[in-house]
Amino acid sequence: MKRPILTIAIVATTFFSQAQKKTIDQRVDSVLKLMTLEEKAGQMNQYNGPWAATGPLTNDDKLIDQIKEGKVGSMLNATGAVRTRDLQQLALQSRLKIPLLFGQDVVHGYRTIFPIPLAEAASWNLEAMERSARIAAIEASAAGVHWTFAPMVDISRDPRWGRVMEGAGEDPFLGSLIAKARVKGFQGKGFGNTDAVMACAKHFAAYGAAIGGRDYNSVDMSLRQLWETYLPPFKAAAEAGAATFMNSFNDLNGIPATGNGYLQREILKGKWNFKGFVVSDWGSVGEMINHGFVKDNKEAAMSAANAGSDMDMESRAYIQNLPQLVKEGKVKLTVVDDAVRRILKKKFEMGLFDDPFKYSSEEREKQQWNNADHLKAERDMAKKSIVLLKNDRQTLPISKQTKTIALIGPFIKAKSDNLGFWSYDWPDDSARIVSVWDGVKSKVGTDTKMLYAKGCNINDTSTAGFAEAIEMAKQADVIVMNVGEARDMSGEAKSKSSIRLPGVQEDLIKAMQATGKPVVVMINAGRPLIFNWVADNVPAILYTWWLGTEAGNAIADVLFGDYNPSAKLPMTFPLTEGQIPIYYNYYNTGRPATSDSDRFYRSAYIDLSLYPKYAFGHGLSYTSFSYSDITLSNSTIKSTEKLIAKMTLTNAGNFDGEETVQLYIRDLFGSVVRPVKELKGFQKVFLKKGESKEVMFTLTVDDLRFYNDKLQYIYEPGDFKLFIGGSSDKTKEAGFKLVK
Ligand code: GLC
Repeated sequence: MKRPILTIAIVATTFFSQAQKKTIDQRVDSVLKLMTLEEKAGQMNQYNGPWAATGPLTNDDKLIDQIKEGKVGSMLNATGAVRTRDLQQLALQSRLKIPLLFGQDVVHGYRTIFPIPLAEAASWNLEAMERSARIAAIEASAAGVHWTFAPMVDISRDPRWGRVMEGAGEDPFLGSLIAKARVKGFQGKGFGNTDAVMACAKHFAAYGAAIGGRDYNSVDMSLRQLWETYLPPFKAAAEAGAATFMNSFNDLNGIPATGNGYLQREILKGKWNFKGFVVSDWGSVGEMINHGFVKDNKEAAMSAANAGSDMDMESRAYIQNLPQLVKEGKVKLTVVDDAVRRILKKKFEMGLFDDPFKYSSEEREKQQWNNADHLKAERDMAKKSIVLLKNDRQTLPISKQTKTIALIGPFIKAKSDNLGFWSYDWPDDSARIVSVWDGVKSKVGTDTKMLYAKGCNINDTSTAGFAEAIEMAKQADVIVMNVGEARDMSGEAKSKSSIRLPGVQEDLIKAMQATGKPVVVMINAGRPLIFNWVADNVPAILYTWWLGTEAGNAIADVLFGDYNPSAKLPMTFPLTEGQIPIYYNYYNTGRPATSDSDRFYRSAYIDLSLYPKYAFGHGLSYTSFSYSDITLSNSTIKSTEKLIAKMTLTNAGNFDGEETVQLYIRDLFGSVVRPVKELKGFQKVFLKKGESKEVMFTLTVDDLRFYNDKLQYIYEPGDFKLFIGGSSDKTKEAGFKLVK
């Protein structure tokens, strides 16, 4: 009789796993009981290592002493097996020997730098993005890092904001799926595995909606907009098990996020039942004084702690004030205990109490330092992130047997400028990073002659290099240009009022175009740029973002057709800065324009088209895909039924290729107005040339939900449209009705 044994086994497993679970909770409480108020404040205190800063550094010659006195719970910008081991040894000299947590901005790679997150988002390839985060975690954890301050999941509709490079673009549906993939990638099989790092969903919340796209600026929006557009990726990250959150610099509707109890207590720890801990952004606790929200650091500590900010990054407000605030009854001891419990729990789950040095292994660090598989994965991710914006007259791909290629532009031989913001510089980068020149050289045949001219600098007015570039171009069969932004032109504190090609790069392109030779322009950037003359006059354009360590190889794979570009824009590209904010999921308004000639409609500009340069979801292929009409399983569905939408996709061109088939809906009438389109699904479909395939989507009533004016997440019966296409502005449509 198998049953009794099986039952005993289940009971025993449950008992031990419960015992194991209770053990961590009990172990946390057993430590908490021993702690003084100062030691508790210490766990809530995070310092930067004085050797590298990602914010305004406070000189503090007492750092080492404070670690030994148990006044520091975590450090950021401290990496490397040796350095983290040394610092951990200091922490173990403290009375209770509580180990430090080491946090680091491993946003898109550590030793192997991956494409910037906005570029990866253009791949719409969730598995590849998860793998990218996984590899970053493997390399960072081998270098002593326990915790990455990523994924950044801020939705943004404003490319003037430099940090769009760090996120997943403008759409909450795509952004939520990417948030989940990245959290899973970073955290892997779970805490305690030495290749898993704690994720940190940031910046909570709505930091990407800064007025004017100016970094750190105020954010003011309806709570409905907050819930509908900016919170979904955070909710997805929390549901995916993100270990931590980071609150944001901005004030939201007049209350700084760091001191915002609605965000941190009511939503995150309340409605979403988040069990991890919240770290402030760099100095954001103390910066509430500048906000005019508190009068001094003591009030700042009180406000932030009471609002649910568990750890203070670099403002020293907690360590200097919390004990006194508790004694004065201005912060309850239960508030401090809850924060410390959350922090200690993560340290136990990471196994740091059992072995504080488990991540500081020089041997593992060496193993992961030059991992060839990671470079292969990076090249794969990079080529999947390249967007083909235009390809007239099949200018691309270029034949490997081309006799003479002129490679022109300030990025052709660039190395570190391929890494982008939030990356790391290593001593061997000049050999390790693959430039465009390197990539092309390893791709073309020995008979191909490669000519090079920088042509101009990235950002000055000198045209002295034009003559040489023109000379090279005249000798070539095809001109390949690489222009764009240097790696520090997008990122934190890099908001720009003008997002054109810097310097005289566009003039150089015009000079190349004037030679009459076929010109291919590749644009490196951390954000959507404006380059209308190029877009209107040059036959072929690739958006090559900042693609990381293997950039040149990935670009060569695409240039010569070894990889057929498949990426799609995760953000709208505006015609001018004057159009911003511009995004695909806008409301129709009472006067919707249907063309640029409509004047008294949808607040059209009298001096500019209504439409962007490139739409959300745009991206071409070397082949062409044709979409059949859509067929629906029913024209009417009940809330308990599913709707099946089918269409046939055909590869009608001469290259095998992958298409990202996008599904949008529109709720035609609602108790609040609804966007003209909302992304609700996508499928990446690979077809050999000439092949056709049926593509099917299943919708349920949950796909039709939205936040009404009471912030209820509801659906409403009524008429809907459904769209399927290869870009938000090129779709086939069908209609259906939802009934009770
Ligand atoms: C920075 C950034 C944040 C980063 C933190 C630590 O100011 O806003 O994204 O994680 O400080 O470097």
